[in-house]
Amino acid sequence: MTASSTGRTAIIAGNWKMNYGPREAAKFVQEIQPALAEALQAPGSPLCILCPPAISLAAVRAVLDIPDAASSAQIELGAQNMYFEEKGAFTGEISPNMVHELCTTVILGHSERRTYFSETDELVNKKTLAALRHGLRPVVCIGENVQQHESGETAHVITTQIRASLANLTSEQAREIVIAYEPIWAIGTGKAATGEIANNVIRQIRQEYQALYGAEAASVVRILYGGSVTSDNIAEFMAYPDIDGALVGGASLKPDFVNIVRNSRQVRH
Ligand code: PGA
Repeated sequence: MTASSTGRTAIIAGNWKMNYGPREAAKFVQEIQPALAEALQAPGSPLCILCPPAISLAAVRAVLDIPDAASSAQIELGAQNMYFEEKGAFTGEISPNMVHELCTTVILGHSERRTYFSETDELVNKKTLAALRHGLRPVVCIGENVQQHESGETAHVITTQIRASLANLTSEQAREIVIAYEPIWAIGTGKAATGEIANNVIRQIRQEYQALYGAEAASVVRILYGGSVTSDNIAEFMAYPDIDGALVGGASLKPDFVNIVRNSRQVRH
C-alpha cells in the first residue's frame, strides 16, 4: 500500500446498503476477489473496505480468509451501522465489540440512517466515540440536502454536523476518524457533484476540523466523497488534493467496482 503525496492512504469503501444476503454476498465476493486482489497489488493502491449488510459480514469474511488470497490484507470489512452500548436489551441492534470481531470499520450517520431512522448528530457522536473506544475506524457521514444546497447553506450545515457529530474526541482519536462528505442530492441520483464542488466542501471540512482539533489532525484525517461515484468519474475526484477516496453505493454492487479501485489509483497531486 502506498501513501499519496499527502501522506494519506486513499480509501475506496463499498456501501452495499440493504443488498446481498449471505449467499449472494459470498458469491459476489468470490466473483470479484481475484481481480480486486490484483488491482490492489499495484503501487498507489487504496485501502479497500467492503461494507455488506451485518448479516452477510461473516460470509464475506469467510471468502476473504481463503489462505491463498495473498492480498486480502488490503481488503477490510466494515459494518454500515451499530449501536453505542456494548450489550443488553436493545433488540435488533449490534454492538461495537460484535462489529470488532469481524470488521475494522463502521459507517456511521449515513444520510439514510439520519432520514429513515431519525439519527441525530448527538446519536452519531455517541456511536463515533463508542467505535473509537473499541478500536473501530468510524466513517462518519455528513452532507447537505438539495434545498440546503440550492439556498447556499452547505457550509453552515456541514459545520453544524461536524461540530456535533465529531465532538469530544481526544487528539489521538481525531486522527483515526474518516469523514465521508455525501451531498444527499448526489446519493443514488446519478448526479454526482463535480470534483471541484466536492473538493471545495471537503476543504472547508478540513478547515473546520483544524479549528476543532488542530493542524496535525486536519492534515491526517481522511475525507472521502460519496454520491453517484462510478468507474468513469472516480479519477476526477481523486485528482483533487483534499479528496482522499470515495464511499461508493450502487456501483459497489457490480464487478465494475474493481474498476473504481483501479481508476482511483494514480500518482496523486
Ligand atoms: P451511491 O451511494 O453511490 O449509490 O450514490 C453512496 C452512498 O450512499 O454511500
